Amino acid sequence: MKLLKQIALTFRLIKFERFLGSLFYSFQRDWLERQYSPPPTPTLVQSPGGLIQAEARERGADCQFERAELEITFLTPELVRLEWKPGKPPLPYGIAKQDWPEVESHLEQAAEGWRLTSSHLKIEILNDGHLKFATPEGQTLREELPPQQLGEMRIHQARLRPEECIYGLGERAASLDLRRPKTEGQNIPAYRMWNYDAGGVYTSGTDPLYLCIPVYLGLHRQGSYLVFYENPHPANFSFEATATASFEGGSLCYYFTSGTPAQLLERYTELTGKPPLPPRWAFGYHQSRWGYGTQAAVQETVESFIQRDLPISAVHLDIDCQDNFRAFTVDPDRFPNIKTLTANLAARSIQLITILNPGIKASRKSKLFQEGRMQKFFCSDRQGNLILGPVWPGMSAFPDFSNPDVRHWWTRQYEYLLDLGIRGFWHDMNEPGIFTLWGDPSLPPQATQHSMEGRGGNHQEVHNLYGMLQAIAAYDALREYSPQIRPFVISRAGWAGLQRYAWTWTGDVQTSWEGLRQTVPTVLGMGLSGIPYTGPDIGGFKGNPSPELYLRWFQMAAFLPFCRTHSANNVKHRTPWMYGEPYLSLIRELLRLRYRLLPFFYTLAWEMTQTGHPMVRPLFWLDPTDVRLWSVDDAFLVGDALLVCPILAEGVRSRQVILPKGEWYQFWDDIPVGDSETLTLDAPLETIPLLVKAGTILAMEENQQLILHLYPSSEGSCMGQVYSDAGDGYGEWRVDRFQLHCTGAEMTLTWQSEGNFEFPYHRLKIQFHGIQPQQAWIEGQDLPILENSIECDSCKVLFSKTM
Ligand code: GLC
Repeated sequence: MKLLKQIALTFRLIKFERFLGSLFYSFQRDWLERQYSPPPTPTLVQSPGGLIQAEARERGADCQFERAELEITFLTPELVRLEWKPGKPPLPYGIAKQDWPEVESHLEQAAEGWRLTSSHLKIEILNDGHLKFATPEGQTLREELPPQQLGEMRIHQARLRPEECIYGLGERAASLDLRRPKTEGQNIPAYRMWNYDAGGVYTSGTDPLYLCIPVYLGLHRQGSYLVFYENPHPANFSFEATATASFEGGSLCYYFTSGTPAQLLERYTELTGKPPLPPRWAFGYHQSRWGYGTQAAVQETVESFIQRDLPISAVHLDIDCQDNFRAFTVDPDRFPNIKTLTANLAARSIQLITILNPGIKASRKSKLFQEGRMQKFFCSDRQGNLILGPVWPGMSAFPDFSNPDVRHWWTRQYEYLLDLGIRGFWHDMNEPGIFTLWGDPSLPPQATQHSMEGRGGNHQEVHNLYGMLQAIAAYDALREYSPQIRPFVISRAGWAGLQRYAWTWTGDVQTSWEGLRQTVPTVLGMGLSGIPYTGPDIGGFKGNPSPELYLRWFQMAAFLPFCRTHSANNVKHRTPWMYGEPYLSLIRELLRLRYRLLPFFYTLAWEMTQTGHPMVRPLFWLDPTDVRLWSVDDAFLVGDALLVCPILAEGVRSRQVILPKGEWYQFWDDIPVGDSETLTLDAPLETIPLLVKAGTILAMEENQQLILHLYPSSEGSCMGQVYSDAGDGYGEWRVDRFQLHCTGAEMTLTWQSEGNFEFPYHRLKIQFHGIQPQQAWIEGQDLPILENSIECDSCKVLFSKTM
């Protein structure tokens, strides 16, 4: 009792201290900002004026206007970079590729200005600064108005067609189509570019969120295109009759490409980087909570998973594992032997992940703080005074990750945790988030000085980059200190290019059906912004979901790249068994399905390293010309093969889905459906409606067996591939490609392999769906057909099997 009272008192004291810190900091931030507030924005809008001259240049053209210059550069015939000058050029943090092969372009005078063409794009530069982007056949895809300048502000507008849909902008709690309000009749929302800690909980309509990216896709009847602004400054975006982007600084430097959504993502990720292949275990289930306060609690949770026969691949430790919430520490009393813990878990193929926040407690006793302060590694104001802000450990300093020496210093700190056997890092509060009582919960944007690789800049420019720069340091640490394994970093905040270094999650989403519904467009929008590895806190962050909500949330998350239960500290311990039966058994079955599907997920991840196509895709991905699919944001595709229709409201036991054209099978009973119907699907509590595209070979695994589920189209063909390697590291790999052809009454399955990794399965099983073969042979030998499947010895290299 006495102990409890003492804890309660300490807790209140901490809270009071935090309150005082937040009060002090909020005043200080405002005071600093007042001193460095920029000159008032002039009211006179400046436009480029008339076009004086255009000159061809290697891979593009330079256009001289009366008051501006436009530099157009083709990086490929499909991808073009435009920069309106003057303006402070960006540092290329978002850009992964600098060397591009030669591109032929041609500049000619036209009736109203000039025309610059590549083999794929036609750009009209009109005399007043309007730009038109068209296909070589002359189909206009986008029309831009002359840019406007208001002091430091850069305003860029493009006409939108009435039917045009807009997607992207990173992480948004909005409709998938950003031009559509969440509720019919509401105003079309505006979107802010400013990574933002929603302060404990968010729901539909909260804007901005933690990870903003100035990239969007436009889709209309003439085609689709993508625009990426290489400008990390705060900005506002709106999409009404025009798409308007207003940047509060920097230059108007952007990239344009046109093509199908798949091609757009290929090109965007060629520019900003393809996501590397994560370790295979990352696609397993992750268990987390804010509140695993002791080593014993973690051990007990893991035992409970094992006893209950629940698969699990990772446990995440929140700030409670740290010594007074300090970064790069482990509380020695509550986690006395973390090395033993990580070893125990590793023996069961379970990884331990720990949280890491960027704030370093400002304390004489902290070696890290002293080191950082001595070397001027922390953010300071323009006079060089440290800026301290309250976060979990108390008043803290914030490393300036835009300084390469700071990143290197930060990289070195991970070694300690890696030595303890920690396998991955979860970066939180890296917008950076700071506790405030009012105003923006981050560093003072004008007053905070940053290195920006030595060229200097303020927090206005660095804020949106901050989380990504920290992720670079972590990624480098893992590559340097554990070169034999693949890095696993999760970052709450980020910018264009974050996919090169980290996964993310959708932050503190509200525990509600609305929070669940919101997750679908949020995840889809991130995928279309080049951030493929994401998923929600299953069950929502703050609150106790009803058993039904938790189950429905789980059913959806079982098909998302990142499948993790996480929750706030003041809620019940959320685990698959918390609601007893039938929920426990249902979740166990779901998790087993997820693990059986690992070859499918892993192959998609490998494909993504080549293509940049997100694993989770909107329905229009399959047919961007089908207007019915443009706004669908209550269902999603996994790859091109699975259509997942989550149940997003209480008590619902069936739902409709607009089917993309083609033939489909219902996953649970093999019933064929199609063609372009609106389907009603049953959804008893125990199932999530799921469809498989005809023509798919869906790869699953169980007991060292690779199971190929054949879902032939009506012509009798299907195909699929399986990528395999050791699951981690950088060793050998292989790809097995399977294809079923139909010739008359016979069907032949061909199998081709590439790569040197040994086939990792003992046996191969082929399960037929929608067809019932009468006989099967392999190399002339009869094979028994049992329960519509055949099994064979995978060690034989079979180039042709006849069934
Ligand atoms: C933030 C994170 C959340 C975490 C909490 C405590 O709210 O978004 O996931 O549990 O901080 O660290």
